[in-house]
Parts: sequence; C-alpha cells; structure tokens
Amino acid sequence: MKTALLALALFMPALALAQGADIFKGADLALGARLIAENKCVQCHASKVGGDGSAIYRPKGRINNAGLLRGMVENCSTQLNLQLFPEEVTAIAAVLNRDHYKFR
Ligand code: HEC
Repeated sequence: MKTALLALALFMPALALAQGADIFKGADLALGARLIAENKCVQCHASKVGGDGSAIYRPKGRINNAGLLRGMVENCSTQLNLQLFPEEVTAIAAVLNRDHYKFR
C-alpha cells in the first residue's frame, strides 16, 4: 500500500501539486536537517543571495504550497544528483516548511 502511494507520488506530479502540509506529517525532521547540512544547500544558496541564504526561500513566490515545495526539493536534488529516497526529499521539504515556508 505504502509502495503504491509512493509510486503515485513519483509518477503523478500533478497530484502532488494539490497536496497540503499534511504530506509532511510524520516526516523525520532530524534527518531532513542533517541532509540539508550534508548537501550544502545553505552554502550554495548563501553564495547566490548572501546572508544566511534563507532569502532564496520565497513563500510568496512560485513555490506557494506544500506539494510544490516538495516538488522543488525533488527537482533540486535530481539536478544535483543527490539520489535521495522519497522519504528523504519529504524530510528536507518538511524542515524547509517548518523553518521558512510555513504552509498549512
Ligand atoms: C549549487 C547550488 C545549489 C545547491 C547545492 C542547492 N541549491 Fe537550491 N537553489 C539554488 C538556486 C540558484 C535557486 C534559485 C532558483 C530560481 O530561483 O530559479 C535555488 C532554489 C531553491 C528552492 C526554491 C526557493 C523558492 O522559494 O523559490 C528550494 C526549495 C531549494 N533551492 C532547495 C534546495 C535544497 C533542499 C538543497 C539541498 C538538498 C539545495 N536547494 C541545494 C541553488 C542551489
């Protein structure tokens, strides 16, 4: 069942777009924070926008719901070739949501 849901989430991005922050329920926030640190997300963002890099996160921009936030983390990690598991992508997005985006 869980596998089927994961498959859906992977292959039907359109479905993910409609999701609210409940997709982050039960996410492993400690894991997410660790992955963000390990993958130098903040360092690169800071080099682009200055400060602590958090200015790159724009809750009022294109990324305006939880599904899009998760999708963006997925795109970024694919581009960076991080090879994250779906639950790792979710964990990262959950931390960004908690600290920056605060979608419901
Ligand atoms: C090599 C540099 C680099 C690294 C490493 C990087 N990013 Fe980014 N990221 C960017 C740039 C540049 C943008 C802005 C893209 C744009 O606005 O089109 C961005 C934008 C984003 C956004 C969208 C912000 C918004 O609200 O529009 C998210 C979310 C994000 N990155 C997450 C991550 C995460 C999570 C990681 C680590 C796993 C990461 N990024 C690693 C360069 C990087």
